[in-house]
Amino acid sequence: MSILITGFGQIITFKKADAPLRGKDMRDINIIKRGAILIGGKKILAIGKESEVKRHKLSKNAKHIKMRGVALPGFVDSHTHSIFAEPRLKDFSLRVSGASYQEIKTAGGGIISSINAVRKQNPAEMERQLLERAKKFLECGTTTAEVKTGYGLDFKSEIKMLQVIKNASLKTSLEMPATLLSAHCVPPEFKGDTKKYLEFIMAEILPFAARKRLAAFVDIFCEKGYFSAKESLKYLFHAKQYGFIGKIHAEQLSNSGGIAAGASAGAISADHADYANLSDIKVAKQTGMVLTLLPASNFYLGINKYPNARKMIASGAAVALATDFNPGTSPCLNMQEVLSLACINMGMTPEESIVAATINGAYALNMADRIGSIEVGKQADIAIFDAEDYREISYYFGGNLNLMTIKKGRIVYKKMR
Ligand code: NIG
Ligand code: FE
Repeated sequence: MSILITGFGQIITFKKADAPLRGKDMRDINIIKRGAILIGGKKILAIGKESEVKRHKLSKNAKHIKMRGVALPGFVDSHTHSIFAEPRLKDFSLRVSGASYQEIKTAGGGIISSINAVRKQNPAEMERQLLERAKKFLECGTTTAEVKTGYGLDFKSEIKMLQVIKNASLKTSLEMPATLLSAHCVPPEFKGDTKKYLEFIMAEILPFAARKRLAAFVDIFCEKGYFSAKESLKYLFHAKQYGFIGKIHAEQLSNSGGIAAGASAGAISADHADYANLSDIKVAKQTGMVLTLLPASNFYLGINKYPNARKMIASGAAVALATDFNPGTSPCLNMQEVLSLACINMGMTPEESIVAATINGAYALNMADRIGSIEVGKQADIAIFDAEDYREISYYFGGNLNLMTIKKGRIVYKKMR
């Protein structure tokens, strides 16, 4: 069955490329005015001016939907920690009274304070929560969201999280590629013995997750007090032998060498990059590793220093945007908010923010061959916003302009009037 959607004020498309868009190509978007989209099954059959699309032979018998607004590719949120049992409200109170992320950790909050509830939570409840969140992602126009583990930090709980992602994926339209983030923090049982904990993950969790095909990616938090660059390098190399694609939380709170380590290990993305220096940016550019910026976490932690997106883009490094949705540093799953923050606090242009949140995010997930842009032959993953101009999506903040979400050719969310 085909669907013909007409009436769009604008449809945003990108230059065809087989790599993330960089430099000025990030600003060079195409705007189709008074456009239409023809969808056949899960895929896009035609896009263009209404009159052109109507000439397609499958248009005639297609179900016709009259829309309005701005059509973008569904957001690709390439960095989330969407499984957590409880919000961290104690951390929040400490934060608003001025404590830093590191001080909150020292006071007994932080990542470790999330593990008890996650370990105790039964998989059915975990799945119910994740599905509830998946619904909210779809409501906000996100059609793909990566989901990390990293709040279990023992074999049983980390595998439980991966299995929940897999099972939940069968019950929601949101695509949720999984990332094993057991190297998020050293759990109390290992009494700060980082080496021993990493050896345990490498010996027990990685082989099992690989054998059961539970995750495509492996991630590590490279930071003072967490894992060093040397450890990250060794770990990501090891993970690669099992077929995992590497990702790294790098240079979030200090320059710890994570970007260089990630690049040497062939990681697909280095995320945060707040303290990336010129040599890090150069390495990212040369290796093609995507720098995924997460400005909602800066905003939430009250950090005035944001990643230097302007320098990264000017240098030709690939830049993506994601929410970092998590209970400690970014309780925000709305990519529209991230676009606003990227423009206001990092000086990205509205065009760059859209590219970073869609096609470049798709590259950070190795999925750009089928998602991330409205392109003939690609999956019909589309978000339609209540706007006359695409710039309104980053201009308005604190709300949800999404009118309709289409995933794999099906309407999966429609705003109630
Ligand atoms: O990306 N930095 C490490 N991980 C998360 C925070 C996790 C947490 O505090 O629960 C982040 O910001
Ligand atoms: Fe994160």
